[in-house]
Amino acid sequence: MSAATAGFSHPFVAHIPLKADRHTHLERQIPLPLVVNPDPDSDSLPHREVCFGVDKTVAVIGSGISGVCAAAHLLKHGLSVTVFERSDGAGGVWKFDERPPEDPPYDYRPPSYGDQHRIPTGAVFEGGNADLSNLEVRFAPPGPCYAGLKTNVPTPLMGTALGDWPEGSPASVSHSDALQYIRSLAKKSGLDAVTEFNTRVEDVRKTSDGLKWKITTVTMEKSDRIPGTRFTQKVRIFDLVVVASGHYNMPRIPQIEGLSEWKVSFPDRVIHSKRYRNPEKYRDQNVLVIGAGVSATDVCKELGDMSNKTFQSTRNGRFDLPASALPPNAIRVARVERFVPPETKSEESALGNNQPIPGSVILADGTVLQDIHQVVIATGYIVSYPFLPQLHSDTTIDANPDDELVVTSDGIMTHNLHKDIFYIKDPTLAFIGVPYHVATFSLFDFQAQALARVFAGSAKLPTEEEMRREYEERVGIKGRGRFFHSLVTPGHEIAYVKDLAEWVNSYVKGTGGIPMPTHSEEFLKEYEVLKTRLRGLYPEVAKGDGRSQE
Ligand SMILES: Cc1cc2nc3c(=O)[nH]c(=O)nc-3n(C[C@H](O)[C@H](O)[C@H](O)COP(=O)(O)OP(=O)(O)OC[C@H]3O[C@@H](n4cnc5c(N)ncnc54)[C@H](O)[C@@H]3O)c2cc1C
Ligand SMILES: NC(=O)c1ccc[n+]([C@@H]2O[C@H](COP(=O)([O-])OP(=O)(O)OC[C@H]3O[C@@H](n4cnc5c(N)ncnc54)[C@H](OP(=O)(O)O)[C@@H]3O)[C@@H](O)[C@H]2O)c1
Repeated sequence: MSAATAGFSHPFVAHIPLKADRHTHLERQIPLPLVVNPDPDSDSLPHREVCFGVDKTVAVIGSGISGVCAAAHLLKHGLSVTVFERSDGAGGVWKFDERPPEDPPYDYRPPSYGDQHRIPTGAVFEGGNADLSNLEVRFAPPGPCYAGLKTNVPTPLMGTALGDWPEGSPASVSHSDALQYIRSLAKKSGLDAVTEFNTRVEDVRKTSDGLKWKITTVTMEKSDRIPGTRFTQKVRIFDLVVVASGHYNMPRIPQIEGLSEWKVSFPDRVIHSKRYRNPEKYRDQNVLVIGAGVSATDVCKELGDMSNKTFQSTRNGRFDLPASALPPNAIRVARVERFVPPETKSEESALGNNQPIPGSVILADGTVLQDIHQVVIATGYIVSYPFLPQLHSDTTIDANPDDELVVTSDGIMTHNLHKDIFYIKDPTLAFIGVPYHVATFSLFDFQAQALARVFAGSAKLPTEEEMRREYEERVGIKGRGRFFHSLVTPGHEIAYVKDLAEWVNSYVKGTGGIPMPTHSEEFLKEYEVLKTRLRGLYPEVAKGDGRSQE
């Protein structure tokens, strides 16, 4: 048997007793054991060395571009793949749903809380369409896609090895074109047959012998024959797991004095950008947008022809987009210090449609904003993998994780991954889609190509000590935090892919496998054009630490 078909034994993967209960928020656990199949995790599992190879079973969590690329390349390399997607179709961020997700809580929630809302227990839920729609929204929260969302990375940079964009696609395409592209890749790669839609992954942990992964899922089923909606829990065993659940799931709600009181008093006037869908309701209103990232800037642009005045509040972060990107009716203002609630309850209940909120907003420079009608909180997202509570610690600060944790208290990075992909302690668990400030589609596709070769056993990971050494070296250079996964520095995205390819191809050649490609000449040319344009627009990018394309 060749190394390619036998797979490489990994000497350490089977022996990690991952801590069962870290300091996590357990409230989000869903009590839904409605139809439960027998737990296949038993002592009768054969004790054998866990290794990679084409005979392995892989669970892929998520069917956005990351999950589609991961599953497609794993299938191509001969592994047995099951994809779990909580919504009813592939596409992730690019799936437009008029229904916004539910409001997140406005009091502090730690990263392990996630966005997987508790839903009512009971075998079958019956009700009107509105009730069932609410239930679906709670089960599979719609993403942040709004009606006017377009891609901001040129399509030639968003291609994958799985298929080209349709001939003649413009540089920037609508969300529906992006969705179509992802779905066409899923279809032609045969993923429809191996994907369980409406199936949410609730829990992922090692089997008691530490050899495999036990995955608990809940599937939402609707049938024309049986009225109502039922939720079925299943427990299944896999050799390998790929987390491709995205990192724009759990809204980051800033803990600003008075904000939660405003939200309680004027629930429809205060939203996180994940709930933003279109500019119509902001016509002639004064809007406060908090944040200076791409979401905040894009919302301000959408309000350009619609709102009376837009105030974009920034705390002067390292990745702020320039104020010059704002439309004429928007001005940049200082950080929000506090929201002053109205003095009397009667004012709140009397608030009419076009009436501004009868409270004021105090900014850090002393400015007082009044007559604000609407607030859009565009403060980004918290990294969260709520189905991996044992790898979260909400009480450990980001600067000080141990070598097992993946998410700590701030939820700003994914710790302890080799090359942003393989969980160093146990690389039978891998992540696709972690880097940012990149041409996401193509980069995640390259990650998936490397992953598939390792999982198939045709490329070999370094030892745990070597992976740890490389990781700590990178922490030393980049520091822990938001910048850790950013590939914004000119040349870093290209070098990252080259490094992945050089590593896996050094093994693939020996095993007779197919070498992984790197960026094409066409990509590199387009990439340079984009970088030059961005350097002109954003001087910070030229210095290597500003906001790039994604
Ligand atoms: C508003 C917005 C605009 C963007 N615009 C651009 C752009 O123009 N260009 C660009 O390159 N990038 C852009 N990005 C970045 C974007 O995140 C990537 O393009 C890409 O779509 C991410 O894909 P993903 O598969 O990693 O995650 P996602 O697209 O988020 O997919 C994750 C999938 O996992 C599923 N899932 C989550 N949890 C579970 C669970 N427990 N069980 C089962 N399924 C689960 C979700 O339903 C989802 O389908 C944008 C991001 C946002 C938020
Ligand atoms: N295609 C498109 O046109 C499009 C549109 C929207 C979004 N996107 C993408 O979507 C992803 C998410 O973008 P995003 O803008 O939602 O999130 P983001 O990039 O994380 O930006 C969040 C912003 O909120 C600020 N912020 C965070 N916490 C704050 C607090 N407590 N008080 C005040 N400000 C705070 C941040 O400032 P600090 O830097 O100081 O933390 C930052 O300016 C990105 O990949 C983006 O490119 C793309």
